[in-house]
Amino acid sequence: MTTVLVVDDRATNREVARETLGDGGYDVIEAADGRQALRLAKSLHPDVVLTDMLMPGIDGYQFAQELRQDPETGDIPLLFYTANYSRDEVWPLAEAIGVSCVVEKTATPQELLDAIAETLRESHPAGPRPHRPQAAKHIDVLNAKLLEKAGALDESEARFAAMAEASPVGIIITDRQGRATYVNPGACEITGWRSDALLGHGWLSCLRIEPPSPAAGSGRRDRRLAHPDGSHRRLTVLSRSIPDGDGATAGSVVTIDDVTAMVEAEERRRLDDRDRAAEARRQATARFDSLARLAGGVAHDFNNLLNIILSFGDFIDESLVDAENLLFTADRSAGIRQDVDRIRQAGRRAAELTHQLLTFGGKEVIKPVLVDLNAVVREVVDLLPADLHRTISVATSLAADLGAVKSDAVQLRQALSSLTTNAIEAMIRGGHLDVTTENLTGTPSLYGAESVVHIRITDTGDGMSPEVLDQAMEPFFTTKPRGAGPGLGLATSYGIVRQSGGRLLLESQPGRGTTVHIYLPSARAVTTASPPAAERPGAAGRTILVAEDEPGLREVILRILRKDGYQVLAAADGREAVTIAQQHDGPIHAVLSDVVMPVMNGRELAAALPAIRPGVPVLFMSGYAEPLMNEQGLIETDATVLNKPFTRDELLAAVARMLAAVAG
Ligand SMILES: Nc1ncnc2c1ncn2[C@@H]1O[C@H](COP(=O)(O)OP(=O)(O)OP(=O)(O)O)[C@@H](O)[C@H]1O
Ligand SMILES: [Mg+2]
Repeated sequence: MTTVLVVDDRATNREVARETLGDGGYDVIEAADGRQALRLAKSLHPDVVLTDMLMPGIDGYQFAQELRQDPETGDIPLLFYTANYSRDEVWPLAEAIGVSCVVEKTATPQELLDAIAETLRESHPAGPRPHRPQAAKHIDVLNAKLLEKAGALDESEARFAAMAEASPVGIIITDRQGRATYVNPGACEITGWRSDALLGHGWLSCLRIEPPSPAAGSGRRDRRLAHPDGSHRRLTVLSRSIPDGDGATAGSVVTIDDVTAMVEAEERRRLDDRDRAAEARRQATARFDSLARLAGGVAHDFNNLLNIILSFGDFIDESLVDAENLLFTADRSAGIRQDVDRIRQAGRRAAELTHQLLTFGGKEVIKPVLVDLNAVVREVVDLLPADLHRTISVATSLAADLGAVKSDAVQLRQALSSLTTNAIEAMIRGGHLDVTTENLTGTPSLYGAESVVHIRITDTGDGMSPEVLDQAMEPFFTTKPRGAGPGLGLATSYGIVRQSGGRLLLESQPGRGTTVHIYLPSARAVTTASPPAAERPGAAGRTILVAEDEPGLREVILRILRKDGYQVLAAADGREAVTIAQQHDGPIHAVLSDVVMPVMNGRELAAALPAIRPGVPVLFMSGYAEPLMNEQGLIETDATVLNKPFTRDELLAAVARMLAAVAG
């Protein structure tokens, strides 16, 4: 194989030549200076030599002359390979000392290969040449070149200096030990340090940077700097290492950018966004609170009225049974009873709506117990219609160690079933429903509880537009056709979750499905046992004190209790009830009291009673939980509450249970 000796003082240049010649099928020997090259040429006798011209020690000319003068190497063809001279400048002298060809380093790899092939083909080295003194000519050429190079260098240095001085960015040049050897005015301006303080290792302490090792390389650092003018600056410091000719690090260029204005603007924008989001949340909460108050207030009054309507419906029904064949024919009374039934049905439907409104307002009277949410999810999923699975796949992923929550199981079931119903209604063309449960811990500030249970109901249905999403939770908001749904599903679910101290969030995009997130605080309390079913003791001889300010409802209660055999004492408010309790001669077995009453309310009555009639139990009647709630918004669990509107049977059962509890 043909061997080429490459002579160049720069490793990177030798590497490039080696690559090119290797590709051309040559064997390459390398020498880093003229002396080494002469030794290698003598011992290895390469087929051709390719040498750089400007080199420390002996340069290309001198090397060529010595190579030619030695009889052992005088016949080896030789090419100059130069970055600094042009071919025309060099050729006369080169030819005179027996160089076959001059190739400029700007030549393409192919041009270099062609030149070597040509040289090998055509050179008829004349053997050792007699030494002809070319020294004077050589020195002239070399001097001219050096002057030209020095001029170019001055020009370039002046350009770079002007650039660095004018730059608003701080620029620091360091040596390989990280000592600053140059600092531009921008660096002084930005840091407020004088250049003599920044030079050497000063810049490192100014920017609080550990002294970099020589091989530290490039990197970016963000720094806060207390400027001597009293301001605080945010700086971005970038360093990039400067490689020397051998690929090692000669030092680094460090740039310092003052990004204070940018960072502050970004921070202001972030804070503004946060304020806006907090304000939007506050407004949404305020809107819901006022809606909830309105719903609760309306529902409270409706419950009393509905209790009266429904009870009188019952009374008419009973009277008709009693009066059948006496006043009317059986046919006629059946017709009237049908009408009464209609009234009662409408009343029951209205009562249902009222309860949903109260639920939305978080004002429903509930009995919170420990609930296993996984069990509730399973129940709800099991009850999904069987034919659903033809178009919709359902998956659940339930955490095995899920924490219990304190809530009303019936209500939670209602909420989950509304939410899954919504999901299914959004997937008319099929899709996937996914219900997952998990424990979340370690985010107390976010949810206000140490550990939180997270339920996620995800569908791949139609999703909601931002406008629908904004109103979806409001009571009576629906996109269904008129009469298809009242639009209470989400509102009541929201109320249920809120009344259990949790949060409900919606995430949805049109065409990309919906995810409902429910977060409920985990409860640690022990399970409360449900009270044993009571025997129903007889009413005969029992006296009940009733306190109710709504005359119509008071009359209804009196009629029901008296008809069942109770003695009844009636009061229009708490104060009157206290007076009766003090003045009545006989025993009083129980008190049945409304909660919200003028003059003295039900809770005050219950508090005053033990001093007058120790041990007499109180049963509250309420359609509205708020008056029963403590400061934390929780119902005191030892209070016994009968939900309005109630039926005759519910009232009698509750009274009997209370009497049995005292007797037992
Ligand atoms: N999973 C869901 N995907 C898409 N839209 C939904 C979803 N859930 C609720 N919505 C939208 O929110 C509206 C309100 O829901 P909400 O459950 O309160 O009432 P509804 O389903 O319309 O009626 P109701 O539940 O009382 O029968 C819906 O009409 C629907 O537009
Ligand atoms: Mg719904």
